Amino acid sequence: MRFDNPAKENPIDRLKVVGQPVDRIDGPDKTTGHARYAYEHHEEVPGAAYGYVIGAGIAKGRIVSMELDAARRAPGVLTIVTAQNAGKLGKGDFNTARLLGGPEIEHYHQAIALVVAETFEQARAAAQLVRVRYARERGRFDLARERGNAALATGEKKPESAVGDFDKAFAAAPVQLDATYTTPDQSHAMMEPHASIARWQGDRLTLWTSNQMVNWSRGDVARTLGIPRENVRLISPYVGGGFGAKLFVRADALLAALGARAAGRPVKVALQRPLIANNTTHRPATIQRIRIGAGSDGRITAIAHESWSGDLPGGSPETAVQQTRLLYAGANRYTALRLATLDLPEGNAMRAPGEAPGMMALEIAIDEIAEKLGLDPVEFRIRNDTQVDPEQHGRPFSQRRLVECLRLGAERFGWQARSARPRSQREGQWWIGTGVAAAFRNNLVMASAARVRLDGQGRVTVETDMTDIGTGSYTVIAQTAAEMLGVPLHQVAVRLGDSDFPVSAGSGGQWGANSATSGVYAACVRLREELGRRHGFDASTAVFDNGQIRAGGRTLALGEAAGEGGIVAEDGIVFGKLDKAYQQSTFGAHFVEVGVDVATAEVRVRRMLAVCAAGRILNPKSARSQVIGAMTMGVGAALMEELAVDKRLGFFVNHDLAGYEVPVHADIPHQEVIFLDETDPLSSPMKAKGVGELGICGVGAAVANAIYHATGVRVRDYPITLDKLLAGMPMVA
Ligand code: MOS
Repeated sequence: MRFDNPAKENPIDRLKVVGQPVDRIDGPDKTTGHARYAYEHHEEVPGAAYGYVIGAGIAKGRIVSMELDAARRAPGVLTIVTAQNAGKLGKGDFNTARLLGGPEIEHYHQAIALVVAETFEQARAAAQLVRVRYARERGRFDLARERGNAALATGEKKPESAVGDFDKAFAAAPVQLDATYTTPDQSHAMMEPHASIARWQGDRLTLWTSNQMVNWSRGDVARTLGIPRENVRLISPYVGGGFGAKLFVRADALLAALGARAAGRPVKVALQRPLIANNTTHRPATIQRIRIGAGSDGRITAIAHESWSGDLPGGSPETAVQQTRLLYAGANRYTALRLATLDLPEGNAMRAPGEAPGMMALEIAIDEIAEKLGLDPVEFRIRNDTQVDPEQHGRPFSQRRLVECLRLGAERFGWQARSARPRSQREGQWWIGTGVAAAFRNNLVMASAARVRLDGQGRVTVETDMTDIGTGSYTVIAQTAAEMLGVPLHQVAVRLGDSDFPVSAGSGGQWGANSATSGVYAACVRLREELGRRHGFDASTAVFDNGQIRAGGRTLALGEAAGEGGIVAEDGIVFGKLDKAYQQSTFGAHFVEVGVDVATAEVRVRRMLAVCAAGRILNPKSARSQVIGAMTMGVGAALMEELAVDKRLGFFVNHDLAGYEVPVHADIPHQEVIFLDETDPLSSPMKAKGVGELGICGVGAAVANAIYHATGVRVRDYPITLDKLLAGMPMVA
């Protein structure tokens, strides 16, 4: 089904099941331990051997020698895979050739060997016996130092954009802001580590793995191993958090496959936690310079946003200027993405790449210029709203209700009572402050297919290679099929995450729920049509309800209509031009109240509110979970999360969950989420959009702005830790 015109009224609009806050259908399996994660498929793959990954001890240079003999003789050892004996590896689409290093070392903890043994402990013990000598080379590890060597990121579709004459308009603006903000390297820190079990049957490989994008990764495994994609089956039914780290095949999957081939039996590999930060991808640090010029009427006349980030040779930038191209009006504009070469581990997608760190900078800048103008920051944002793409005049948004989000949020949060003056509210030992930020994240749509089976009892089974990374895919897909076929939710079974199933959108960039349910919608339309053909009714006017089909004055029981053998239909959605003709984005507003200890500068977040406008909300319960999770991660980004770079040796020092700080429950107060009642018929037949990543975009700045309001100290360097705050705070008795 091609989606090329705004969605008409369709069965989803009944909202009997879709749009209802139903519990997750996979909840019982997860809470009782029946949901199998990648490392746990003991029953399907008995007798797997264990792999232990050895990571490079240098960031850049060469392996001079590797002594494996002692390890090979160690108890239980079956084989050791290295670049020397693994055979030639293809490049893949996502740098998979880099997953097994040697002799060249490109980054710290790049995998250089897999030790395979009968037990995990034996593999680990043997790995300690491997002696590696390196020739270390000088590397580039400091983004601030390499900033001068950065070049426009020409590999990007749009590395730079310019409208009007920014320099002239900025120089002429009566009120100006020119400020630089920095965000650190961050790690996904998902609960389930990257993990895989590999089994070869002849020249066919099955990989149980923890992966967000089954089809991408199936292709990449095949290309890397040099085998046909038909020979690779990827199975990823449950993912214990991905956050962008599991968009791609990583070393666990490739090394499990190589290890299993070498050992002649199944091999399982869980990437050891201390390897994850340096071995896999991370969110790269940014330096962002923002200049805004405004008239005394409070309108932006000039806005520029430049971002610098680094990556390995051939890498890509953190696209931190995306939102600045779309969020506020202003006739004269400039944005640029600059990329420096660094010899740190690969930078890539994490939790709303682009907008998440971009909004951390932009939305402090907006707070700062509003203050210079003497304007309330909510009012300033509303005054500079635009209803068209400000870089491409006349190109409308499919929906854009930023102003309503800000107004409703201000009302619900009690913003009116706020005094504009910083450090004006104290409660005992706490300075109290409130902050606001807009939320913005683009809405992407991706082709997605599904197979739907209806049996003689009226039960429905949906199969698609879509993944559920904790987001609720199982549930919204079941809701979609139940709505389309008129059956109760418990009559629908959903099977996900298997490359034998039709190719879906996968989970990433908040495109998953809207795209994948649209694919299920398309398959259900096909099934309805097939039933119509068999029984001689017009499927487009038939009503599927309560396990029955009503059409042309007749009523048919759904199961009987399917017949003894059941009926199967397969289709997918492909998206036409509507996401080019219209700018599809999601909007919101974040409000935060903090207390800052007058003496120690300890920050406590006291209240959070998010208002989101993101099309139809398919399941308000799971969507709310998504958003409060994202808000929590936003607090992490504001206050805690940072991979500390050893700039001499080139690695992330705090590479475990003890040293990499993320919020715990005690850090997070009551969080409120409001969804505007909205449908976006230009986005998909579901009239939905992404919402999960919207929940993080803007949170960091809302926290930073609240801290400024509490203390009068403006920290432009994330995370906002006590040392940075204390430096600006007056000593208080
Ligand atoms: Mo997301 S960071 O595209 O999984």
